[in-house]
Amino acid sequence: MIRVTLPRFGRFDAWRAAARDLASARVPPEGVAWADPDTPPDLFGAEPAPPPADHPVIATQDFLQLARQVASHSDPERWSLLYAALMRAQGDRRFLSNPADSMLDRLTRMAKSVRRDIHKMHAFVRFHELPADGPRRAFGAWFEPEHPILEAGTPFFAKRFADMDWLIATPEGTARFEGAAIAYGGPAPRPDLPPDASHDLWQTYFANIFNPARIKTDAMRSEMPRKYWKNLPETRLIPEMLADAPRRVQAMRDAGATEAPVFAPKVTARIRQQPDDSLPETLDQAASQAARCTRCKLCHAATQTVWGKGDAGAGLMIVGEAPGDQEDLAGRPFIGPAGQLLRQAMAEADLDPDRAWLTNAVKHFRFTPRGKRRMHQTPDRPHIEQCRWWLGLERRMVAPRLTVALGATAAFALTGNRSPLTPRRGTIEPALDGGPVLVTWHPSLILRLPPDRAPEARAQLRADLAHAAQLIADAPEG
Ligand code: URA
Repeated sequence: MIRVTLPRFGRFDAWRAAARDLASARVPPEGVAWADPDTPPDLFGAEPAPPPADHPVIATQDFLQLARQVASHSDPERWSLLYAALMRAQGDRRFLSNPADSMLDRLTRMAKSVRRDIHKMHAFVRFHELPADGPRRAFGAWFEPEHPILEAGTPFFAKRFADMDWLIATPEGTARFEGAAIAYGGPAPRPDLPPDASHDLWQTYFANIFNPARIKTDAMRSEMPRKYWKNLPETRLIPEMLADAPRRVQAMRDAGATEAPVFAPKVTARIRQQPDDSLPETLDQAASQAARCTRCKLCHAATQTVWGKGDAGAGLMIVGEAPGDQEDLAGRPFIGPAGQLLRQAMAEADLDPDRAWLTNAVKHFRFTPRGKRRMHQTPDRPHIEQCRWWLGLERRMVAPRLTVALGATAAFALTGNRSPLTPRRGTIEPALDGGPVLVTWHPSLILRLPPDRAPEARAQLRADLAHAAQLIADAPEG
């Protein structure tokens, strides 16, 4: 019998080299005894291994990957099993793709068990901070895996904790990382690890994510098997938390439901008010349906839907971006500073706001709170797209002969064109639903421009509105 003793670390590569030589000499599996460093010596002596011969040895990548995992299994027969599989594959490689094969099945289950143990190691190693001499922090951990996985499981920690020195001790040996590579050493007694402040934090976190109403002890046991418990600080809490769970569940029942978010009653009231989702036939019906709109999230924080206002029989529709702070409170469009500027410019262009339909692309105010103030925010594309439903209804019912788009949001809502506004200003584009759209500046942009640029933009807005007045006057009424 040939005896091959594998080292404690680097053993897969050692097995692979020895197995290749033995297989090339066609040594049968029963002719080799594989030993670990802890295997007692063979009292009856051992034959020397024959020199490698010329027979080619074939091992697929899949087999080597499987073998590498099996090499970390605790079964003392793993080496002879792997060698038997290697020898068998020389004559019949197909068995490695036959899941019903009992040898392959055993190896696959062993590999799976090793993978699971490595996964648990990555999840359950708990480091304790150690006193450090140098600039790097140092940590130590004790872990008791099911299999000898130290070498296979620790490269993960070198990547994850490359900026600290650490030592992981297991009954199989120790892995020590000091900034460059992991050095493996033989078994040492369990180190005396100092208490670690982060473990209290970890316990607090664990206690807080524990939901007494959702206890699934089988799932818990499978995720966190009992054999790992003794080195996990948080598991000390489990028996008490399980015992206290019925009382906590009862207390939760007695306390009743927690309060819904502040906006919920407002939204619920709007929805309950008029449970009608038939297609509106009049502008008033559309307005009252829009008042209950929850198509996008803006309804949660806004005070109300700001529907259009003006002359529904007018040939001119003016579309802004979205209501601002004052419009949101009053429920009417264009009454704040930008609205004032628009109304002035309209007056200068000989347009009467009461003889036009004034509305917005988005009908809820979008803002971010800053202290007590609500700062306007431009609606995003999904808000505009959701609100196009209402704008479309409004347009069908008002049926304007000309629409003025104030700014990029309105221009996109009406035409679907998101390109920059500067070259488009003053031009006429087709609306998505037909009809001409005159594109111009939004008055709030003019309010934000520096004093040297604002007058020109304001003059352009006035000129565009005058152009709109002219077009309306020229266009025949339908
Ligand atoms: N800005 C708009 O776009 N619409 C308004 O209603 C008010 C300001």
